[in-house]
Amino acid sequence: MTVSIGNDHAGPEYKSAIVKHLEEKGFSITNYGTDTTNSADYPDFVHPVASDVDAGKVDFGILICGTANGVAMTANKYQKVRAGVCWNSEITHLTRQHNDANIICIPARFTSILQAIKMVDVFINTEFEGGRHKRRIDKIPLSC
Ligand code: RB5
Repeated sequence: MTVSIGNDHAGPEYKSAIVKHLEEKGFSITNYGTDTTNSADYPDFVHPVASDVDAGKVDFGILICGTANGVAMTANKYQKVRAGVCWNSEITHLTRQHNDANIICIPARFTSILQAIKMVDVFINTEFEGGRHKRRIDKIPLSC
């Protein structure tokens, strides 16, 4: 599986732990995030991740910032992106099952690294339910 990941200064430790975890599973990861805690602007790394997902270049994306809101707001500007803010396993499960999210947004300042890894695993292992949820997600994009 292929994954694009990005993070600002709130999340380099979270990103490293997630990348290590996924590489051990054989995932191929493209890292667009910062590897330091020096202040960084989240849109700078969200755009390349969201663009990869929007273009179908990767199976899914992972974005990390302090609250996860800035990254989600930016990523959801892309027509084919469904980026969901996740803070526990149940929300993560439903974000995949009901919303067919293709990017998980993790709030580094409001969750632990262990919880973040657990959420990434839930995200990967949960199938979209389809049915009425497909009808709903089909109504999300703006028609031009
Ligand atoms: C950075 O201080 C913080 O604003 C950022 O990580 C994120 O929470 C924005 O939504």
